[in-house]
Amino acid sequence: MEKRTFGNTGLGVTVLGYGAMELRHVDEAQAERLLNAVLDAGINFIDTSPDYGRSEDLIGKFIAQRRDEYFLATKCGCTVPHTGGDDAPRHIWTGAQVRHNIEHSLRRLQTDYVDIWQVHSAEPDELAQSDVLETMLRIREEGKVRHIAVSMSGRAAGYGYGQLRPYLDGDWDAFESIQVWYSALARASEGAMAEAAQRGKGMIIRGVVRRVDPWQSLADATTKLGLDDLRVLGESAAQFLLRFALAHPGLHTTIIGTKSLEHLADNIRAVETGPLAADVLAEAKRRLDAAGVVSAS
Ligand SMILES: NC(=O)c1ccc[n+]([C@@H]2O[C@H](COP(=O)([O-])OP(=O)(O)OC[C@H]3O[C@@H](n4cnc5c(N)ncnc54)[C@H](OP(=O)(O)O)[C@@H]3O)[C@@H](O)[C@H]2O)c1
Repeated sequence: MEKRTFGNTGLGVTVLGYGAMELRHVDEAQAERLLNAVLDAGINFIDTSPDYGRSEDLIGKFIAQRRDEYFLATKCGCTVPHTGGDDAPRHIWTGAQVRHNIEHSLRRLQTDYVDIWQVHSAEPDELAQSDVLETMLRIREEGKVRHIAVSMSGRAAGYGYGQLRPYLDGDWDAFESIQVWYSALARASEGAMAEAAQRGKGMIIRGVVRRVDPWQSLADATTKLGLDDLRVLGESAAQFLLRFALAHPGLHTTIIGTKSLEHLADNIRAVETGPLAADVLAEAKRRLDAAGVVSAS
């Protein structure tokens, strides 16, 4: 499987990663099959978080013995377990909280280190008054994590990737990798992603085959946006959208989540087919631009 250099970290990551959030929705036997199928296919990047249910536990339980086959990304700031009702904070931005997170994650993941350790959906102003960054740097020095990173929130209108730029300057430049949402259906981060990659950030892309409003399904989206004749024979809408995203040189790995071995196989086939050809990509972008699905930068 194609590998790309993960920014200045120099890691060689497969363009297809696995988003382990979906492990929340499967039983143990399916989690074991999925995680081993991911590694058997040569996928070498797995993204999880303390607050994805049992995801970290399942990774530890079923593939800790294959730890040298994958780069492991998890997150911090998460309140685990999340208690106190709907108005309780999902994240707490203190050094003590992130230290608690890494100790807990290492135990659950049954490993001595995490490759990419991300603040989970933090805004720069939430971190600014805290000791989170200095604590993360100390934990990196201790060898418990190899690289520190930020995973951007998807909450803000238009997916909010004007937010990405602050992480390219000043103290926040210490973050070595950035996770953003990008797809043919949600192109807001297209320009910012390119800039971040050029500046040496390892880029983790999510949302590549995620349905977005107002479309009912991925197929509904590609039909209504007039993209279907650009799909090769037999290609699903998801496979087309994946190949669209792979054509962005700022995508180093995309962490597609799935509960399904069939969808995993479809995604692997799409990656083997390769990114959209330049002329098809240009035509798809022309049609998306005309429909108002555009980059924010
Ligand atoms: N703020 C953050 O840091 C943050 C937030 C959200 C997610 N994440 C990370 O990003 C990862 C990806 O999240 P996401 O938002 O992109 O999507 P996602 O929540 O993982 O969902 C992907 C969806 O696409 C479907 N799918 C996958 N392959 C498909 C295929 N070939 N054909 C049709 N449907 C397919 C899956 O359904 P099936 O299960 O039926 O295949 C699933 O419903 C997560 O697992 C998590 O690791 C991070």
